[in-house]
Amino acid sequence: MKVLVVGGGGREHAICQKLSESKKLTKLYCAPGNAGISEIAEIVPIGATDIEGIVNFSKENKIDLVVVSPDDPLVMGMVDALNKEGIRAFGPDKNAAIIEGSKVFSKELMKKYNIPTAKYEVFDNPQNALEYLKGAPYPAVIKAEGLALGKGVIIAKDYNEAQGAIKSIMVDKVFGASGNRVVIEEFLEGTEISVLAFTDGKTIIPMKSAQDHKRALDNDEGLNTGGMGAFSPSPIYTKEMEKECMEKIFIPTMEAMNKENRTFRGVLYFGLISTKDGVKVIEYNCRFGDPETQAVLPLFSGDLLEVFEAIIDGRLSEVKFSFKDEKSVCIVMASGGYPQKYETGYEIFGLDEAKSLGVSIYHAGTKHKDGKIVTSGGRVLGVCAQDKDFKRAIEKAYEGVKKISFTNCHFRTDIGKKYI
Ligand code: AMP
Ligand code: GLY
Repeated sequence: MKVLVVGGGGREHAICQKLSESKKLTKLYCAPGNAGISEIAEIVPIGATDIEGIVNFSKENKIDLVVVSPDDPLVMGMVDALNKEGIRAFGPDKNAAIIEGSKVFSKELMKKYNIPTAKYEVFDNPQNALEYLKGAPYPAVIKAEGLALGKGVIIAKDYNEAQGAIKSIMVDKVFGASGNRVVIEEFLEGTEISVLAFTDGKTIIPMKSAQDHKRALDNDEGLNTGGMGAFSPSPIYTKEMEKECMEKIFIPTMEAMNKENRTFRGVLYFGLISTKDGVKVIEYNCRFGDPETQAVLPLFSGDLLEVFEAIIDGRLSEVKFSFKDEKSVCIVMASGGYPQKYETGYEIFGLDEAKSLGVSIYHAGTKHKDGKIVTSGGRVLGVCAQDKDFKRAIEKAYEGVKKISFTNCHFRTDIGKKYI
């Protein structure tokens, strides 16, 4: 099979790696990819949101399956556009991707089907939002309705901060139309867990749980980022908790989407928080998470291409796969300054030396320049290791990190450490 993966980050590198191990694969393409992905797939210089470009390329090259990985093209309807031309595509259609595309939709869905989540209000004009915020409990969580590169959530500790959030989201429109409406919700306290699940709308099979590290600096300080590291499985996600989630969250969500005529086929990401009143949903994503995928997929044992095909055909219950009973850790190496201003174009040293230690290196923001591999984004690499022992997996990953260097490199030194 000829397969095209759409996207170009660490998550797509991990997906490409697993697909490249499939017996059914004859040729792998990735658009737009990155320097690391180019070692296992042919790079196609088409942007991940260029729907017309991806459709045309797929037609011209007789692609058998397109895997649409990032949120934007899914929410924009890339899968629908491909299907319309008779091209098979993995990922939810636009109708189902709304579960991530609109926080108002997902909150209303959870309310209607009694899926545990934070209490909330929706506002479509700044005056009413501010009026409500005068009497709201603090901290208050203020969310732009639509996609905002993971930056559309502001946790305001008082009215003053809340005012600033409403101004930037609804008046200054820093996230564009994503800020036409806001969701204001109660602040939940607890540990966050990510569970990615395969579903074809009839069956839902969770992968190993994971925990992300969203803040830029050690001890969960600094700004929120796209994720500075992850590990899998989460030590606090017990068998009992998994059962609770299956009964109260995972199956009800799949069935709710069916009842709304929005059957979800793809990977559904549950952003969960374990509170003293049980597990609640913080958010849904309509895709694999980044960097959770770089920690979770190395544990996957089976043929990922076969799983993707089974999901499209509605026979997920028939395919066999499992997850290794090991601990997996991913440490993100970023450009200094990220998630704010940073510089790129710096040569990356030590990649082969790190690989020779047995770690996997997933590229995120890298590209080739004059025969060298240079930085090209905020998050640059994910260095990942597995072991039976959690502490050893962390050590191995950091041994890999130590071999790699580039100017102004930044990484957290405490990924997973709170659990050992
Ligand atoms: P989201 O994009 O909805 O996942 O939100 C980004 C981050 O904001 C989450 O990973 C949480 O750390 C935090 N967050 C979102 N909603 C809440 C909430 N209701 N209570 C506490 N923290 C939250
Ligand atoms: N790691 C969070 C996300 O993928 O949105």
